[in-house]
Amino acid sequence: MPKFRVGFIGTGRKPERPSRLGFAMAYAHAEGYQQLPDCELVACADIVEENARAFASVYNTKVYTSHREMLEKEQLDIVSISTWPMTHAALVIDCAKAGVKAIHCEKPMDYTWGAARLMAQECERRGVRLTFNHQRRFGKPFRMAKQLLDEGVIGKLVRVEFGAGNLYDYGTHNFDMCNYFNGESPAEWVMAQIDYHTENLIFGTHNENQAYALWKYPNGVWGVASTGAGAWLIGAHHRIIGSDGIIELGSMEPGAPALRYRRFGKGEWETVDCGGEDMHGPGYIERAIADIVAALREGRESELCARNALNATEIIFACYESVRRRGRVDLPLTIADNPLVDLVERGEIKPQPER
Ligand SMILES: NC(=O)c1ccc[n+]([C@@H]2O[C@H](COP(=O)([O-])OP(=O)(O)OC[C@H]3O[C@@H](n4cnc5c(N)ncnc54)[C@H](O)[C@@H]3O)[C@@H](O)[C@H]2O)c1
Repeated sequence: MPKFRVGFIGTGRKPERPSRLGFAMAYAHAEGYQQLPDCELVACADIVEENARAFASVYNTKVYTSHREMLEKEQLDIVSISTWPMTHAALVIDCAKAGVKAIHCEKPMDYTWGAARLMAQECERRGVRLTFNHQRRFGKPFRMAKQLLDEGVIGKLVRVEFGAGNLYDYGTHNFDMCNYFNGESPAEWVMAQIDYHTENLIFGTHNENQAYALWKYPNGVWGVASTGAGAWLIGAHHRIIGSDGIIELGSMEPGAPALRYRRFGKGEWETVDCGGEDMHGPGYIERAIADIVAALREGRESELCARNALNATEIIFACYESVRRRGRVDLPLTIADNPLVDLVERGEIKPQPER
């Protein structure tokens, strides 16, 4: 069987303990490809040579300091991109132009709505499979919650909710899962407010300190998100509310299981055994990589596809646009920039440096 030639852009420096600013996600991707018999880890490119060399010494790949040179010389089939968000679109488009078959890019899509759409369009028109690492879709608690929902255990879906650190950097996972629970529909409108008083740069990108967001889907289902200090208002990673009951994932209540549900009028929570998996893993990224490779092999679309990622990304930027417009934003979103960055750059929001 001919093997898919896999390359990596942005290896990171594998830390002893991952920090908020340097997870070296390429290593997690590489572990996934390494488990697949039809993948060959060929090359990596990082602008910091030392990082690329360290990665190559673990995975026995060739080393480049220019992704363009790597793309030109290595005839890659699949490229995994694990750089910071504001570089994603440009790197994805370079890969697509070089003729790779599939690109698996880290979340969030990019730093602006225009760049996120452009990278998706450029891949689509070249027939390149573009996916994003919203790996929680492959976590047992999330899969089993969807199964409970589809089986009608809590009746008809009414509302999806999440509590998280922020809307953009981590929130992209949460919005993506809300859309997953509601059948991958784009949202119809979004309304949000944020507080951003202390500079919060995550992977070089502005993230609010606290937000409250409401959105609605065309099928009548509502979404609610509360971030930062307000995450406690929701009190769970996700809550799925149906006509007959509630499913909770990652409740913030001490000792609560990863997944539980309760039917209205029936009293107690029922715990669902998720085999030790929580909101973060283990094994989610390996399963995500296995799915994007299987999708390429089988000629099908992975559920990590750009279309699904765009649905989540549109809600994020619509939240920030709602702040800028001081009102509800009806979708599709027609702006191209990142409204939060615009508000900061114009001095309308003045986050102070972290002390
Ligand atoms: N899916 C998840 O659960 C998850 C978890 C953490 C981080 N992330 C995302 O992964 C991405 C990367 O985060 P990280 O923590 O791995 O970063 P990192 O800082 O550990 O690694 C990024 C690497 O990219 C390199 N780089 C920058 N520009 C480059 C370019 N043009 N060409 C080649 N290399 C370049 C840097 O030198 C660095 O080595 C971010 O978008 C982040 O949001 C996802």
